Amino acid sequence: MTQDEMKKAVAEAAVEFVQGGWVVGVGTGSTANHFIDVLARMKGKIDGAVASSEASAERLRGHGIEVLDLNSTGPLPIYVDGADEATRHLHLTKGGGGALTREKIVAAASDQFVCVIDETKQVDYLGAFPLPVEVIPMARSHVARVLTGMGGNPVLREGFRTDNGNVILDVHGLRIMNPVELESEIDHIAGVVSNGLFARRPANVLLVGTPSGVQTIS
Ligand code: 5RP
Repeated sequence: MTQDEMKKAVAEAAVEFVQGGWVVGVGTGSTANHFIDVLARMKGKIDGAVASSEASAERLRGHGIEVLDLNSTGPLPIYVDGADEATRHLHLTKGGGGALTREKIVAAASDQFVCVIDETKQVDYLGAFPLPVEVIPMARSHVARVLTGMGGNPVLREGFRTDNGNVILDVHGLRIMNPVELESEIDHIAGVVSNGLFARRPANVLLVGTPSGVQTIS
């Protein structure tokens, strides 16, 4: 089974969590794209979607699914998104696609966060995948110095701007033993918009695609 087939399998499993009449929070990335494609089968039953990126919004509209403004929907019953790394505690690293801030907003506004990954994303400790940090452009050097002082090696994501017009520093070399604490610490650096740790608001359910089927961790 290929990695992409495992991603498709978890997307199929995730749609089972969606009920008719719901507005669905939708993440970003290749696994979320598979979810969007499967969700399209329910487009007559759901009330629309809130997207965590312009790319996902475009894909949703392409399937004829109405994209709603989070300010008009109130809390969402569900958010479905992928991750770059996940632990058995349902702590995540996200933001490989650069959509971490909007992903964090939609996750925070949702009752249930169903995270969909293939088995290559499962780790004992977060940190092998460089931690994305979204930064206001004028603060780039300052934030990089602080992150270096914290033991990381921040690298500017060249030629990339987020949907919010900001830059991303990918922080290498962190072995993250306390993700809840580190998430707060990085968020408190002046100029940081958000970081890719999802530990204060972890996933509620992790669907893991493996060659022998989809495993559910909650
Ligand atoms: C985007 C994300 C994605 O969820 C993460 O990068 C995983 O992507 P993929 O499903 O393509 O492996 O956080 O900002």
